[in-house]
Amino acid sequence: MTNATTKPWAGRFEQPTDAFVEAFTASVGFDHRLYRQDIAGSIAHARMLAQQGILSGEECAAIVAGLARVRERIEAGTFAWSEALEDVHMNIEAALTADIGDAGKRLHTGRSRNDQVATDLRLWLREEIDALLCGIDALVSALLDLAEREADTIMPGFTHLQVAQPITFGHHMMAWVEMLERDAGRLSDCRARVNIMPLGAAALAGTSYPIDRAFTAAALGFERPAENSLDAVSDRDFAIEFTAAAAIAMMHLSRFSEELILWSSAQFGFIELSDAYCTGSSIMPQKKNPDVPELVRGKTGRIFGHLMALLTLMKGQPLAYNKDNQEDKEPLFDTADNLRGALKVFADMMRHLTCNHARMRAAASQGFATATDLADYLVRRGIPFRDAHEIVGKAVAFGLREGRDLALLTLAELRRFSPAIGEDVYDVLSLEGSVNARNHLGGTAPEQVRAAIARKRAARGAGVAPGR
Ligand code: ARG
Repeated sequence: MTNATTKPWAGRFEQPTDAFVEAFTASVGFDHRLYRQDIAGSIAHARMLAQQGILSGEECAAIVAGLARVRERIEAGTFAWSEALEDVHMNIEAALTADIGDAGKRLHTGRSRNDQVATDLRLWLREEIDALLCGIDALVSALLDLAEREADTIMPGFTHLQVAQPITFGHHMMAWVEMLERDAGRLSDCRARVNIMPLGAAALAGTSYPIDRAFTAAALGFERPAENSLDAVSDRDFAIEFTAAAAIAMMHLSRFSEELILWSSAQFGFIELSDAYCTGSSIMPQKKNPDVPELVRGKTGRIFGHLMALLTLMKGQPLAYNKDNQEDKEPLFDTADNLRGALKVFADMMRHLTCNHARMRAAASQGFATATDLADYLVRRGIPFRDAHEIVGKAVAFGLREGRDLALLTLAELRRFSPAIGEDVYDVLSLEGSVNARNHLGGTAPEQVRAAIARKRAARGAGVAPGR
């Protein structure tokens, strides 16, 4: 960063900015990452000014060419960002003017940094949302493949983290697909409100030039210009909404992480994460730690924090723009960066995960996971469900004393609890019998899991927006 530049707003000032205040108020250290959007917005604005006869054709051409040169310098790493010039907007404008002279000074006609920064941020977030939607899509695709591969794999399903009923691993993966599709739906909904253009609101009240906002909106791919200039420069709902959607998505990935961490422990042993997604211990040679899911679970905290930061940032602000709004960028950038990283690492990790079928099966065979199936069997033989529940409870207590699961009790032993029990009871006490019996939309039967995967793939092929 250099420091030797005159500030574009210095006209009414008699003393220079205090050196510390200059550093304290500058945002260029982080908002420089908006340079592409800032330049795109300026080019659209200049073309509109020329179309309206506010700038000459030559001035516009010089501005467009000059901005392209600024962009090249930034991308080549030869652009000297100046803290004295405060932010990305004034840095770029000053460099343009240094390059092309007076025409550069005319670019800011009918515009303020207030509508400029809001526009830049919306353009940036629109791109980020599109990238995040691709990230979700890649993870969903990995999960669909995994669910298909493991559609018949039996594992215990849990409630209260206690063995509840047998389920299929494929069904469990498809639960994550549902969550991720809702995340995609929320981001798409939010994108519609991001894609509104503040430009033309100027500082707060609009401008006295005969601007054409529809032209600029179309040039930048916005749905439409914002309706009210005061709202346009001060609204950050879109940033809060995005961060809320991201916080929910991170909460999902955190829950997912928690399961992967549990399942890869020696005590569960259901899955093995690829070595590429784990790290070792510098002191304990035997260790293989699930660092990636742990870190995703950990990062969820800061995303929740960013949502709270943005809500709090806005709660006390009177209309219209206030400098407070400069604080919107770092939480937003960090949220998008971390969600994007988490989605990417998850998609890769899930593609390299292996299942330990024997361990899952053994766990499902313990804990009386088919007790509900026995109760349902008795109901089909005319016993009221509450009585059936009681009968099975007694059979479970017996099995516990004997150290044997229901399927390992003899027919004679089972008939002690109800004479309605026949030889065919072993069909429902088997794990396959149990999962196959739940054969309806949304059930865990392998046939249903395959049907669900096929529906998802068909919807994706047809380009149906997920999560609605
Ligand atoms: N750096 C500022 C921000 O991020 C740009 C807008 C400044 N506008 C102003 N009137 N000071 O919000």
